[in-house]
Amino acid sequence: MNRWSSAASFLMLFVSFCSPPDKTAKPTVAEQAAKTEEAKQEPKVDKVALAKQAAGLFGTPEPSTSTTDAAVESAQVELGRMLYYEKRLSKAQDMSCNSCHSLADYGVDVREKDGKHMATSAGHRGQLGDRNSPSSYYAYLHLAQFWDGRAKDVEEQAKGPVTNPGEMAMKSPKAVEKVLESIPGYRPKFKAAFPKAKRPISYDNMAVAIGAFERKLVTPSRFDAFMKGDVEALTDAEAEGLQHFVKKGCIACHVGPAVGGMSYQKLGLLKPYSTKDEGRFRVTKAESDKFVFKVPSLRNIEKTGPYLHDGSIETLSEMVTIMGNHQIAGGPLKAEEVERIVAFLKSLTGKIPEALIAEPEFPKNGPKTPKPDKT
Ligand code: HEC
Ligand code: HEC
Repeated sequence: MNRWSSAASFLMLFVSFCSPPDKTAKPTVAEQAAKTEEAKQEPKVDKVALAKQAAGLFGTPEPSTSTTDAAVESAQVELGRMLYYEKRLSKAQDMSCNSCHSLADYGVDVREKDGKHMATSAGHRGQLGDRNSPSSYYAYLHLAQFWDGRAKDVEEQAKGPVTNPGEMAMKSPKAVEKVLESIPGYRPKFKAAFPKAKRPISYDNMAVAIGAFERKLVTPSRFDAFMKGDVEALTDAEAEGLQHFVKKGCIACHVGPAVGGMSYQKLGLLKPYSTKDEGRFRVTKAESDKFVFKVPSLRNIEKTGPYLHDGSIETLSEMVTIMGNHQIAGGPLKAEEVERIVAFLKSLTGKIPEALIAEPEFPKNGPKTPKPDKT
């Protein structure tokens, strides 16, 4: 027994000695019935205490900034938004970041023609990758980028897909700079975003601008209102789900403002899970990193399926059941617990920042702008 609990039991003893004896007569049947009714309606969860606990465990994410100069920052965010949607940054000029991380669809790959959520993404000439496209919302909060953490932040990450032969397939950073330089409208925009740079248009600055934009991608949700003290923002069932999420130990991994993104963990920690992808082992070659992945953020999780690094799991309740079977000591979860946890997870769906993500008007081609290359 620790110091606090022994003090508490002493206090209880003290209180029970000092309370006057109960002199009231036996309650009537009607009183008894009223009491039972009250007990039935009483929520199983102390929402006020839970909201406080959640604020400590998770917290509401704040957008982050790329520089302390506000004018420069807003120029970077504006330019970054444009580049995020810019298809001329791909070899065939048919694909942008938004093609695989649709901002109107919570930052994941939703096929335009039929609204299908893609398990893995089609890059240049339709080549399919082997991993599911994670959301670009809240990515800036993660300890590193990609399922295996191979890029340190959103700025470094943004340099990957543009020259990846299976994605946007540009030949080299130089080739990208040439495209940007050939479009006259980009010159003043890079100049405003990087006023001190000798050569404002560069591959690195493209990535910094995209990163500055991504650092603003947040979606305030009912869960945030709940943590700020509006305890009615979650229904009783959702609050109960949150309590299971905490007590069952999901928070050992899914914690912090993004409800994840803070550590690398093994898929199949307590019971092996069968998957081909060796995860972080690809990056570190350490035996202990086999099947280890970055813990994903669960914000907007209702909208970002299919799930897991390979997009192999279709529904959220299937996903929560798997986590109960493979990741927690207190598993498997009962059907009712799964249902409540799913209800809680849906309260993490936030509001899309429509004004911030509005598709920009693009500057026109110059005489030297290359033609699309579909080869
Ligand atoms: C062809 C589809 C495709 C395109 C185009 C694409 N991405 Fe991705 N993106 C992916 C996939 C798939 C992953 C996961 C790959 C992995 O982890 O190995 C990913 C990972 C990411 C991540 C990491 C998120 C996390 O949780 O770790 C960010 C951020 C991101 N992309 C932003 C961008 C930006 C910015 C662009 C444009 C410069 C872009 N992506 C272009 C498919 C794409
Ligand atoms: C020991 C760490 C750990 C614990 C505990 C844990 N998870 Fe996970 N969770 C992960 C990892 C790692 C992944 C990603 C695995 C992958 O994609 O291969 C994941 C993935 C998920 C996903 C899918 C996310 C996506 O974008 O695809 C959901 C939903 C989820 N967990 C919910 C839960 C719930 C609910 C609990 C508690 C019952 C829980 N997790 C407990 C580590 C954990």
